[in-house]
Amino acid sequence: MPSAVSSVDSDPSRYQVDFLVIGAGIAGLSAAIRLARSGSVLVVTKEELAESNTAYAQGGIAVALGGEEDVDLHLEDTLAAGDGLVDADAARILVEQGPQRVEELLEWGTAFDRENGELMRTREGAHSRSRILHANGDATGREIAVSLLRHVRSLPKVRLMEWTTGIDLIVETVDGKRRVAGATLLDGEGGILTIHARATLLASGGAGQVYSDTTNPAVATGDGIAMAWRVGAEISDMEFYQFHPTAFSMSGAPRFLMSEALRGEGAYLVNAKRERFMQRYHPLLELAPRDVVARAITQEGMDGEVYLDMRHVKKNLHERFPGISQFLAEYRLDLNRDLIPVRPAAHYLMGGVLTDTHGRTTLPGLYAAGEAACTGVHGANRLASNSLLEGLVFGALAAEAMVADPAPSEVAPQTFALPAESYATPEAEVERWIADLRANMWKYAGLLRDAAGLEAMQVVLDALAGTMPRGLSRRAIEARNLHAVARMIVASAQARRESRGAHYRHDFPQKDAVARHSVMRGREVGFSEAFSGSK
Ligand code: SIN
Repeated sequence: MPSAVSSVDSDPSRYQVDFLVIGAGIAGLSAAIRLARSGSVLVVTKEELAESNTAYAQGGIAVALGGEEDVDLHLEDTLAAGDGLVDADAARILVEQGPQRVEELLEWGTAFDRENGELMRTREGAHSRSRILHANGDATGREIAVSLLRHVRSLPKVRLMEWTTGIDLIVETVDGKRRVAGATLLDGEGGILTIHARATLLASGGAGQVYSDTTNPAVATGDGIAMAWRVGAEISDMEFYQFHPTAFSMSGAPRFLMSEALRGEGAYLVNAKRERFMQRYHPLLELAPRDVVARAITQEGMDGEVYLDMRHVKKNLHERFPGISQFLAEYRLDLNRDLIPVRPAAHYLMGGVLTDTHGRTTLPGLYAAGEAACTGVHGANRLASNSLLEGLVFGALAAEAMVADPAPSEVAPQTFALPAESYATPEAEVERWIADLRANMWKYAGLLRDAAGLEAMQVVLDALAGTMPRGLSRRAIEARNLHAVARMIVASAQARRESRGAHYRHDFPQKDAVARHSVMRGREVGFSEAFSGSK
């Protein structure tokens, strides 16, 4: 470890740092840049630095660069997409601070696509204007991640550690109060590290891997949310999982994202009879909110394949969507020539660790930002391309709070030992166990839910708990985290007896008159109307 991170009692497995950041996507890096102005920072990530949900974001980053009226419209669209559950304070912060954060990205060299020197802007579902910036056509997240990493690497106080998995948060009792004081980590060689930190940020992203069908990469196993839950932090709105309407659909092929920007550039959705159908579901047609489009595709998909059709779009689609075009070429498909088979897949978790607008969780010393957090900014259904902006804005605000909040009174870091494990489940068995969990979650707790299905999933979860993978391998840790996340999704979905945004129940198709957030404390699910007030 470099000097930014110091060892405790010369023990090579115990370190002290001012700020620990778990996750190196847009939220973690946005925070690290600010934290480095006030102390030493350790950023850990499970794989290579380039591997995060951020790097897979295709369509772009939504931002209102056109002044006050534009900002107000962005707010209106965010509120409308969230189906009555958006925390208006959080959303206002997002749209008002977004432009400054994006200007910073431009200063740090992020190369958004331009035409005649002007930033290009596209449109996606439920946006009333073209306000989505993109980079390298359909590789926006990767371009942003690369430019943030370049900046972070120039900061001597930041240490980046790859191939490192969070195991558990460390909780200490100081002056009779519990607070998070760092985390135990598994390094790439299987060694256990104990990191003591004055403030710890969970920026570990979402949990798409809890479903068999997902656009998310393998790293998205909900680790931060599960770690926070295990130490008693409150978790909110876990029933709201966004299913992206258009992931590639071909047997044996990955569920590769067919960006919403395709529809923004004019793609139609057609059913097995080659007929457009969105007019039967929403006046905004193919650009309706995501939850509406996802359910419409599922409905039409009962009678056969659903396709994206861009054959009428007179544009160089290979140039506009190079990543998607390259992927499709492997399957001998071409956006200009062919119908592209699509169906929904798990994409983004609106719920997460309950935080205020500055990333503070309900446990002192613990902060969360980005997809791991739930500020309420997305309500029941996130507006397309608001997630990169969320990571930038709320990562920066969490850093402000981590620096400003009082540090704990000086206590020597306690020795912390993980319970010794005498047995480790064989890896092949862990993989089978995870596959079983994911397939059942897709079947029983996916896009369309009801009491019987959720009850069946509860039974599956109880049975899986009996064979829970043991040991301290990365996959065994991820398996336990996925199980915890699945429990939270199912319990919250059972408790919410209405349909709203991404949560749809056949047995409760109506929306309640009053919008309420679900809040999990341990295994109990409660509901809260005044989200901000409850933090
Ligand atoms: C997409 O490109 O469709 C994904 C954008 C997002 O999830 O916001």
